[in-house]
Amino acid sequence: MGSNGTIRVGVVGVGRGQSFARGAGPSVGMELVALCDTWESRLKEVGASFGVATYSDYDRFLEHDLDAVILANYFHQHAPFAIQALAAGKHVMSETSANKTLAEAVALCRAVEASGCTYMLAENYPYTAFNQELARLYREGEIGRVLYAEGEYNHPMSPEDRMRISPGRNHWRNVLPSTYYCTHALAPLMCITDTRPVTVNGLSSAGQEINRHTVRTRDPGSVILCRMDNGAVFRIMGLGLPGHSNWYRLHGTRGAMEITRGAGYFGPGEVRVWHEPWDVPEGTELERTYVPDWPEHGDLARAAGHGGGDFWTCFHFANAIHAGGQPYLDVYRGVTMSSAGILAWKSALEDGRPFEVPDFRDEAARARRGAFWAAWSRARRIWSMRGGSGGRVGMRGSRRQAGRTDTRACRTHRSGGASRRIRPRGGTP
Ligand SMILES: NC(=O)c1ccc[n+]([C@@H]2O[C@H](COP(=O)([O-])OP(=O)(O)OC[C@H]3O[C@@H](n4cnc5c(N)ncnc54)[C@H](O)[C@@H]3O)[C@@H](O)[C@H]2O)c1
Repeated sequence: MGSNGTIRVGVVGVGRGQSFARGAGPSVGMELVALCDTWESRLKEVGASFGVATYSDYDRFLEHDLDAVILANYFHQHAPFAIQALAAGKHVMSETSANKTLAEAVALCRAVEASGCTYMLAENYPYTAFNQELARLYREGEIGRVLYAEGEYNHPMSPEDRMRISPGRNHWRNVLPSTYYCTHALAPLMCITDTRPVTVNGLSSAGQEINRHTVRTRDPGSVILCRMDNGAVFRIMGLGLPGHSNWYRLHGTRGAMEITRGAGYFGPGEVRVWHEPWDVPEGTELERTYVPDWPEHGDLARAAGHGGGDFWTCFHFANAIHAGGQPYLDVYRGVTMSSAGILAWKSALEDGRPFEVPDFRDEAARARRGAFWAAWSRARRIWSMRGGSGGRVGMRGSRRQAGRTDTRACRTHRSGGASRRIRPRGGTP
């Protein structure tokens, strides 16, 4: 650690990673010291604006004097990067998703255990003011035990914006099954109720016309039904269907609560709680709707992105490192929610058959469920069978490489085992 116990942080990926570069500051006891990206021109620009060391090679980046690594590289390449950083003795906070296969989930759990380092999934949606308020109400027993809940992260974007943030046919956003991006909808519900999914059923909606002005080849939306470990049923919906919606609702044995729907990224940010007239807990109103405040650190959270979530992930990561332990969004919860999305896609391919989500804390369950499986290779086969049709190709200049990196990773998935290390190198993206 630096002077005064400051955590020296390096960030991988200068797209989304810039939020972490800004967030890893003195307010959470961190200092940004290095950035890494294979997109060299952008890396230089961003590195100069932050005034820190830059690396286009991940191995060399890990040799920098760092305590912690924040991973905001490609969605499906986080686990191998995390495993390598943990082996080098670095604490890791990883963007979603934690893993792209169940075998990677097992390898990641083992890597965290062997390293003794802190690992956190940077799921920021549980940390909006309203989701923290729902968690407080739940802890205090306002709605009793959850029986049913709904979470939606449905974030359609204009074709121009989708092409801008997902350049190239092989960019992960263009081949990603919609169930894989389930954590923004599922994580808040898991955190509010402290439950985890034990089985999932997935169903996906086709709608190729939604993708006709982009190169995306996958479904625009899906629903996952999760049976939770307390018996409750959660419905998770996303991802890019027309009709934006970030929304959460929970029904319990003694009432219900939700965030209200409405215009805006998170709607009006209100919490609504209601009860049945014959069962209103003492000292509680039949129904109330209000805009909740932050539990603490409102000034810092309000200045951060994603409804304050981007402050809280850095805050909890730093606190866990200082405490020498693991945060609430630890590796087990991280791989569980990521694997729920993977298994839901398997289920959708079989029209909704239930799939068990392993308990990754249990070595026996890991051994049984360590199967190597990924939708990526299948996505690419379908793509090549279609002869590559499906819209304009939005690759320009140096970002063309983004697709190549994806391709290389897919090849590695097909041929490699759980512990095989992917070391994408060099190249200007
Ligand atoms: N939690 C949120 O609110 C939120 C919002 C946006 C993105 N994300 C996540 O952040 C991650 C990154 O997304 P993005 O929007 O920046 O788009 P992206 O995935 O296209 O960008 C990834 C960046 O990593 C770089 N990169 C790729 N391979 C690399 C390597 N081997 N070494 C170094 N750098 C490499 C790329 O050049 C690119 O700049 C994804 O996992 C995404 O899901 C999360």
